[in-house]
Parts: sequence; C-alpha cells; structure tokens
Amino acid sequence: MITSTFLNPVVDVSRIRSEIQALQPQLVAWRRGLHQRPELGFCEHLTAEFIAQKLTEWGIEYQTGVAQTGIVATIAGEQPGPVLAIRADMDALPIQEANQVPYKSQHDGKMHACGHDGHVTIALGTAYYLSQHRDFCGTAKIIFQPAEEGPGGAKPMIEAGVLKNPDVDAIVGLHLWNQLPLGTVGVRSGALMAAVETFHCTILGKGGHGAIPQQTIDSIVVGSQVVNALQTIVARNIDPIESAVVTVGEFHAGTALNVIANTARLSGTVRYFSPNYANYFSQRIEQIIAGVCQCHGAKFELDYQPLYPPVINDGAIADLVRSVAETVVESPLGVVPNCQTMGGEDMSFFLQEVPGCYFFLGSANSAKGLDFPHHHPRFDFDETALGMGVEIFVRCVEKFCRA
Ligand code: NI
Repeated sequence: MITSTFLNPVVDVSRIRSEIQALQPQLVAWRRGLHQRPELGFCEHLTAEFIAQKLTEWGIEYQTGVAQTGIVATIAGEQPGPVLAIRADMDALPIQEANQVPYKSQHDGKMHACGHDGHVTIALGTAYYLSQHRDFCGTAKIIFQPAEEGPGGAKPMIEAGVLKNPDVDAIVGLHLWNQLPLGTVGVRSGALMAAVETFHCTILGKGGHGAIPQQTIDSIVVGSQVVNALQTIVARNIDPIESAVVTVGEFHAGTALNVIANTARLSGTVRYFSPNYANYFSQRIEQIIAGVCQCHGAKFELDYQPLYPPVINDGAIADLVRSVAETVVESPLGVVPNCQTMGGEDMSFFLQEVPGCYFFLGSANSAKGLDFPHHHPRFDFDETALGMGVEIFVRCVEKFCRA
C-alpha cells in the first residue's frame, strides 16, 4: 500500500517537500555508502568520519567522540527558542548479508540489517536542510548514537551530557519499519516498545549414574520444573490487561544418556511495557528458582540483567509527530496508531530524561521484494522512506521551534 502522494512530485510544491525531493539522490547515495561499510557498536569509526565530514562541509557545529564514537551536532535557528533533539542510531549487526545488490556490505560478517544506515542518512538530511534554512526559533540538536544493538550507547551519551548545554526540551527519533508499508507512519503515545531484561541461571545438582537416581539431584528435572514454573509469572502474576513475555531460549545440560547431569544452564529474556514492573521480574524469577531448587535440594547461580527500560512516548510530543506525519503522508489513514512491539530500544533512556516520541516509519515495499524482516540477512527497505523521514523531522523542528 503506497498511499503517499510524496511519491508524486507535482502534487505538493511546498518549499520543504520540493527541496527534500531534490535531495533524494544524495540521500540514496549516502545511505548506500554507509550500507557498504557497516560497523558494530562502539566501532562506528568510518561512519562517524563520514558524518563529521558532511557536517564540516555544511558549516554545522558538532562534537565527536561522545560515548566513544557518537556525534552531537547543534543547529541554532535565527531566533532563540526551545531545543528539540533528533536521535539516530549508527551501528550494524554481526550478520553476513545475503542480498545481491551493488551496494552490498563490503565488511565480511557485518551488515546494516536493521536500517540504521537509513537512520543516519535521515538525520544527516535533516541537518543539511536545517543548516540551509535557519528561519526557525530555537535549536535542533542531532544525536548520532552508537551501539543501539548492544551494549547500548544512549546511556553513556546521556552521562556524557548530550541533553545539556543547551538543555534539550524534547526528543524525537524514528525506526524505519518493514512491518509497515511505505507511506505509513506508526505513532502512539505511551508504551511503544518493551523493556528488555535477560537472565542466565545455572542449576547446581549432583550428578551420578542414570540407573541410581536416588544418589543424585537431577539438574535436568529441576531445570525443567523451573522452566514450567516461570511460565506462571505471565499466566498468574501479571495483570491480564498488561502484556509481558518470559522466554527461556536456552537449556543446556547433560553429556550422556545414562548419566544424570550435574548442572543445567538456562538463559532467557523478559519483556514488558509497564514501568510498574521495573523490579518485579528479577525478584519473582529469583524467588521461583530458589523455591524449586530448595524443594529438590539443588543450588543455583543467577545473573539477571535489566538492559533497556520500555520506550514510553509523551502524549504531547506524540501528538506533534502525529500531526506532522499526517501532513507528510497526506492522509490520517497513513498514521497507524496500534503499532506496539515487544522489541526493545535504548531510545528509552532518552525518553526517561526528557519528553519525546519514538515512532516507526513504514519502509516495506513487497512489490519490490523489500519486505524481509529486520535482522534478516536479506533485509532491505524502500529508500523513498528516506525523504519522508527527513520531511517529518524538519517539520517537527519547524512546528516545535515556532515563535
Ligand atoms: Ni534497529
């Protein structure tokens, strides 16, 4: 479904759109260049170098080396006013690209399989446009963030002071989204993406002969009961109106069919939307493991890591993005309200500090075969979305930073 007349240059002759459409070949070239040189979290050196080179070329003030490879650019409007930050993540994934395209990854085993090459491009396009049209009141701060895929660059950037001097009043960010068709934008206030927590647990039993179980503590039997008991958290402890997931994705134990395993190792992930559950799962999971182990005389070791909090959008900033998105897709139907996902994002750390809105920019085009899911070795997106992203960000700045 391509509903946007953005694709038709004769329909809208507004200054913003026509200039951004003229920029489209540049956007595609930047994105393809970035796509060919994917870099993993905190190793985005070539990416940072490219961004810095462009910002210098356009006379934009910026700071490099923020949280290692991050960059913050500041574009002041002609008049003073509020500060709107725009965040773009920069990193790629350890995936071997399977696409046969001229701009295929040249870095073996690494790929921009989540579209962050597009995010950097959209942020650059926005920076370029705003640097050429400073007739807004306030300041745009463009945050190029490393390591979204892990271990997370948002938190160290905040600690390095990116939201200060000038102080950021609100923040926006987007993810190109192949779950939505080109010409749509997913915006909602409240929870958009889930909290991500992980755990690794080792059940310490007592191994022995498979035929003499009475002398052992079978870590596989104990571990199996732990896996089952953990399912009761979502089924019986969480408010049914809320959404949550507890997945045990790994269970390793045993070496031979007639040997009772000494230890079993379980690993899993927890997802939820409500910040009310921020410390709940870690405690409840430990309680359940401890109870099951005690019942069988086993011991355990548990390593529980809360990684990213949920992505919670501010109502007023979500309204701003929604109204802008309706202008860009030229139809309220193109703005999709119900677009939550249990995926996680460290944009959440920025949203804990300042009000903001993270949103999804539809980028799939099944007619062109551009609809593989994110993190797939054949992921690619419709580059028409690049210009739409720039237009949304530019219009957000012009609307937020208005006298
Ligand atoms: Ni991503």
